[in-house]
Amino acid sequence: MAHILVTGGLGYIGSHTVVELIQHKHSVIVVDNLSNSEQSVLQGIYDITGVLPAFEHIDICNKQELSNCFTKHSPIDAVIHFAAYKAVGESVQKPLEYYTNNVYGLLVLLDVMRAHNCNNLVFSSSCTVYGQPTELPVTEQAPLQKATSPYGNTKQICEDIIQDYITSNPLFKASLLRYFNPIGAHPSACIGELPKGIPNNLVPFITQTAAGIRKELQVFGNDYNTPDGSAIRDYIYVVDLAKAHVASLNRILNNNVNKACEICNLGTGTGVSVLEMIHAFEQATGVTVPYSIAPRRAGDIEQVWASTSYANKLLNWKADTPLIEIMRTAWNWEKKIRGIQ
Ligand code: NAD
Ligand code: UD1
Repeated sequence: MAHILVTGGLGYIGSHTVVELIQHKHSVIVVDNLSNSEQSVLQGIYDITGVLPAFEHIDICNKQELSNCFTKHSPIDAVIHFAAYKAVGESVQKPLEYYTNNVYGLLVLLDVMRAHNCNNLVFSSSCTVYGQPTELPVTEQAPLQKATSPYGNTKQICEDIIQDYITSNPLFKASLLRYFNPIGAHPSACIGELPKGIPNNLVPFITQTAAGIRKELQVFGNDYNTPDGSAIRDYIYVVDLAKAHVASLNRILNNNVNKACEICNLGTGTGVSVLEMIHAFEQATGVTVPYSIAPRRAGDIEQVWASTSYANKLLNWKADTPLIEIMRTAWNWEKKIRGIQ
């Protein structure tokens, strides 16, 4: 059993990962400032696992409080770092807040880790670092493209900071996990995504439209160079994604890594269009989603999906939950939080 500190552990991906960590017998300390989550998520984690993880209501940018937390829970064997702001559009409006929380937050974390001799890190990156790749599926070797938003730029900068820190500290090991599009909820419907306000992401918008909270879904563009004209992404089940974190963490903890910094795509390897996503939801649930075609969304890319062979082999892991099943979990979660029978 290792002691794992999870920043942002009450958020969407963090909470699912905390569940998997507990189920793999790790001891978890959750650090979260609740800027985009609720403390009640702890109850959901408890309902699934029968374990209530330690919780510290701390902002990772507060170096003193974070350091006190490391002292209190010493020794911390590794950190999984989810805490960040993640809304692309908002990052254009509030770049300073995004750079502060995402980049300065990482710097504070690394500094505190150094002070406490904690040398193992798993970091949440994003496929956004690839922009629109010229070759698909996109491999980890694809060149990174200039970020189109401050959010995307924070992920590139954070990847660079971690790699530079590794160069300076031969004991430090990290994995940079580049997520494609995480969707769905835990099959128990005890935890899931809790978007604030009008969702930007496709699946929460689909489920809220199906629940009658939104009148209709707008499909952003049907004139892309894709088989049905709508944009294509690689949608990965959040529980599969969470499991990859445990696999990646265990490699680091067992000193089993090939290099001090392992970079992995976490996706399914299959591209799915927006229209196919709507139809998959309808097929999974029997609920119709009213939609109309709207202009392309500014900043959107046309199509991307992952090459998964490296991650599959390295982590001995595969994201293989069928889309229909994932859609059912998303709908069950939406129904639960809206009180729909
Ligand atoms: P989320 O907003 O649900 O979770 C982030 C959590 O971090 C929240 O609980 C929030 O309260 C907390 N947090 C934010 N700033 C903090 C701070 N300064 N101190 C302490 N806690 C703080 O987001 P998520 O979808 O779970 O994403 C987790 C990570 O994965 C983020 O780094 C995000 O950029 C990255 N990521 C997400 C996606 C996605 O589609 N959800 C895709 C690629 C990468
Ligand atoms: C966006 C971010 C990405 C981030 C990811 C997860 C951009 C450019 N990229 O990715 O950095 O990692 O979210 O948070 O914003 N769509 C509709 N109608 C809707 C909502 C979405 O048609 O109401 C379409 C989009 O145009 C896109 C697809 O659905 O083609 C997926 O959208 P979304 O869930 O927002 O994810 P990304 O745009 O891939």
